[in-house]
Amino acid sequence: MTRVTFALPPQPYEAVIEYGLLERAGVQLREVLGNGPGAAVFVVTAPPVRRWGKKLMASLSGAGFRPKLLEMPDGERHKKLATIEQLAEKLARLGAERNAVIVALGGGVVGDVAGLLASLYMRSVDLVQIPTTVLAQVDASIGGKTGVNLRAGKNLLGTFYQPRAVLIDPAVLSTLPDREFRAGLYEGLKCGVIGRPELFSRLEKVEVRTLRRDPAALEWLIAESVRLKAEVVSADERESGLRRVLNFGHTIGHALEAESGYRRFLHGEAVAWGMIAAASIARSVGTCDGATAQRIIDAVKNFGTLPGVKARSRDVVRLLRADKKTRDGVVHFVLPREIGKVEMVNDVPESVIIAAVDELRRSLK
Ligand SMILES: NC(=O)c1ccc[n+]([C@@H]2O[C@H](COP(=O)([O-])OP(=O)(O)OC[C@H]3O[C@@H](n4cnc5c(N)ncnc54)[C@H](O)[C@@H]3O)[C@@H](O)[C@H]2O)c1
Ligand SMILES: [Zn+2]
Repeated sequence: MTRVTFALPPQPYEAVIEYGLLERAGVQLREVLGNGPGAAVFVVTAPPVRRWGKKLMASLSGAGFRPKLLEMPDGERHKKLATIEQLAEKLARLGAERNAVIVALGGGVVGDVAGLLASLYMRSVDLVQIPTTVLAQVDASIGGKTGVNLRAGKNLLGTFYQPRAVLIDPAVLSTLPDREFRAGLYEGLKCGVIGRPELFSRLEKVEVRTLRRDPAALEWLIAESVRLKAEVVSADERESGLRRVLNFGHTIGHALEAESGYRRFLHGEAVAWGMIAAASIARSVGTCDGATAQRIIDAVKNFGTLPGVKARSRDVVRLLRADKKTRDGVVHFVLPREIGKVEMVNDVPESVIIAAVDELRRSLK
């Protein structure tokens, strides 16, 4: 078992990472929430994780809770305010009051929706995250960002709202489709480049299919990614500066997602391309040497083939300038210096960006 502390207001909390943890979720929650009769537990989840929902409900009942289950429809297109309203109406009908605890069981979509719901319902009730995708386990469930999409853009409506605990059980990943599994792993690789050289070294050699069947390796890599995020987020909860290193690979990644109407790539796959582009930009502007850039590119490609890039460079550049993280038209890049160290650069020449995107389009994998 690994415990990682998030030193954040209003109170510090832990992410607990352990294979098989879901079966003991009830006991874990008793530890976090105390033994009083108080808490009324409401599990928010989606149909693809029903099997894990049953296990969770059994574990919660076994620990003396009387949990209720609320399903939301699956998928990014339901990550919208209407879903929050529907869930809130259900909570009210089920008699949820200020002592309610919302448990998010699912991928990043369920986590973001349930998180926002918890921060709004009766002006906020407790939240516990139980992420079930690699992406949510290494990234989305930790750090306290919640949100839904607007037609005008992704994640435009949201709050910072920290959970009381995050329970991470790599065993639930056994039912995750291969493509989703791999896409989440790129965020782990990202953590390696940002600040975990050993994580990077292991991932650059890993065989994804073997990893899926290796509980110890999975637990370790998730724990390392969570530790990295905990360090960064604890130093900068609200993304004023330091937290932006977590956007490594995301500058170009977000633009590729947007350019393709969020249909061509899973988020992690777009970030994978973004990391390749960032490595080649870093080599061009000289923040790192050619060998380091190539190691990053090879590590990304080692996970397997990605949907190809079709975007035209000038469309990507236009989208970069429109990104919500872009201030005053200045595009910020997080570029590697070496494996485990990155820096922010905001004066990358447009010609270098264009060359990097052209290279992606020419890349066969
Ligand atoms: N809050 C944050 O800091 C943060 C960070 C990164 C991403 N996000 C958000 O996370 C979302 C993406 O998350 P995601 O990649 O987990 O996508 P997702 O939640 O859509 O999950 C992907 C698919 O896998 C299914 N699924 C989940 N767990 C499963 C399991 N164990 N077995 C089988 N199927 C399973 C889901 O139901 C869904 O169909 C995006 O909306 C993104 O904006 C948030
Ligand atoms: Zn991401």
